[in-house]
Amino acid sequence: MKIVVCENYEEMSKVGAGIIADLLKAKPDCILGLATGSTPVGMYKELTKMNKAGEITFKNVTSFNLDEYYPLAPTHDQSYRYFMNTNLFDNVDIDKANTNVPDGLAEDPAAMGEAYDAAIEAAGGIDLQVLGLGPNGHIAFNEPEEELYAGTHLTGLTESTIKANSRFFESIDDVPTQAVTMGIGSIMKAKKIIVLASGKGKHAVIEKIMSGRITTMCPGTLLLAHADVTLIVDKDAYEG
Ligand code: GLP
Repeated sequence: MKIVVCENYEEMSKVGAGIIADLLKAKPDCILGLATGSTPVGMYKELTKMNKAGEITFKNVTSFNLDEYYPLAPTHDQSYRYFMNTNLFDNVDIDKANTNVPDGLAEDPAAMGEAYDAAIEAAGGIDLQVLGLGPNGHIAFNEPEEELYAGTHLTGLTESTIKANSRFFESIDDVPTQAVTMGIGSIMKAKKIIVLASGKGKHAVIEKIMSGRITTMCPGTLLLAHADVTLIVDKDAYEG
């Protein structure tokens, strides 16, 4: 695992955007795996700037997002579809028909999950997956558990995640208690992974990953088993 330690959030965002920009230039029809959360917002802003300046184009890009709350409509202002539209897709030249987010209203989430993984495979697999880390070490919505799922699936959210994410909702009671998420296998199949982490709140997870030991009780540590992961952290996340 490669670790890039940045001075601050701004630099972390620029380094992440630079890696994506390099891929877009080398492979304009690449398949991107995208993440939500507050961490990648700055990186999406950088990418938007580069796109508007004509340095990069998303015209031929296909994207697959990691997860979505369940049940939640894509039009809900806290849905991850809405987040992606407002933070990236509406601001760049991507064809929205080529952007995919797990269906938060799927009647049969298991079938939807299978179809989602099959669509990723049919597209040729994810070239670059962007990840954030939950304060409890979750990746996407794969929460710390004794057993984790390989494929895209419906999952319950832990109390700590509901609490952490309640800052975006009017009240904690409005936070969905379930989500549909890409599984560990779906994520690990990506050819390359970049993980962004900023702030002291992520230090404990970074420390666990850097310990070199793998446990499903901190899903972020599973990334140690992937051949091409770059961890991009700011000083606060790195030093605590
Ligand atoms: C959410 C998402 C994750 C994200 C994490 C961190 O729960 N499901 O994909 O990485 O939270 O969020 P933040 O970047 O806001 O700390």
